[in-house]
Amino acid sequence: MSRTYVITGAASGIGAATAQLLGERGHRVVGVDLRNADVNVDLTTAEGRERMVAEVATATDGRIDAIIANAGLASPTAATVAVNYFGAVATLEGLRPLLAGSSAPRAVATASMASLYPPDDALLEALLAGDEGAALARGAELETSAPEMANLIYGTTKRALARWIRRNAPTPEWAGAGIPLNAIGPGVVATPMTADLTATAEARDALLQMVPMPLNGIFEPRDVAYLLAWLTSEENAHLCGQVVFIDGGSDAIIRGDSTW
Ligand SMILES: NC(=O)c1ccc[n+]([C@@H]2O[C@H](COP(=O)([O-])OP(=O)(O)OC[C@H]3O[C@@H](n4cnc5c(N)ncnc54)[C@H](O)[C@@H]3O)[C@@H](O)[C@H]2O)c1
Repeated sequence: MSRTYVITGAASGIGAATAQLLGERGHRVVGVDLRNADVNVDLTTAEGRERMVAEVATATDGRIDAIIANAGLASPTAATVAVNYFGAVATLEGLRPLLAGSSAPRAVATASMASLYPPDDALLEALLAGDEGAALARGAELETSAPEMANLIYGTTKRALARWIRRNAPTPEWAGAGIPLNAIGPGVVATPMTADLTATAEARDALLQMVPMPLNGIFEPRDVAYLLAWLTSEENAHLCGQVVFIDGGSDAIIRGDSTW
């Protein structure tokens, strides 16, 4: 049966590959991105988030089957705080009412294996409190600090997003409404986001020291698309609040026995 999917970050990388795969399977995709999408908005802003919900509702007559909150930035900047966490949460919460008419509603967010790295505690606290003003202020502080501090921004936003998913998935709004809500945690995927980090053999080796991927190494966005497609399909009715690491083994190596 043809379903209607909303994908943020649909103009590039993992989002584009997922839109392509779902389209090939006969589904309708409403893509959201800064540009070159069906709905062109900036998810760092309140205005952009509101316009996304309004334009998706208009395009779909207020009825969708799945949300894939995937847009993100990896730069060590405050904008990464705004889009990776608050943009993703606004996507999930803003579009959730449009799932009400679906016989198999689904939602997923793209976190990252970087959520496994130690976070910046002050930023994590502000994110989990939902305090965008404080989180952006801490993000701006980190952005202008030493590179090792600024580099904590990305992983911290992804840890907070994964926690938000786990905290919200079992609640009446999601599980109680029959909506499986989950996340994925990709390792290194060959997209424009990682192009500079994988451009030379030396750069790739250095990256794979940080992100060990013994199973088949760096992979393609289409490989992630298959997982996102399954998580948002009718076949997935019972996964609740899981962060599925698609990472060639980095979670198994980094967390080892500390999870089971
Ligand atoms: N590539 C990787 O190795 C990797 C690993 C783990 C997680 N991820 C996550 O996967 C997701 C997709 O990343 P990708 O690798 O496909 O990167 P990408 O840069 O190819 O695509 C990201 C898309 O998000 C969009 N976007 C960014 N800021 C936005 C904003 N303010 N409003 C609307 N759209 C915005 C961009 O325009 C872009 O099209 C991101 O959340 C990223 O953090 C990627």
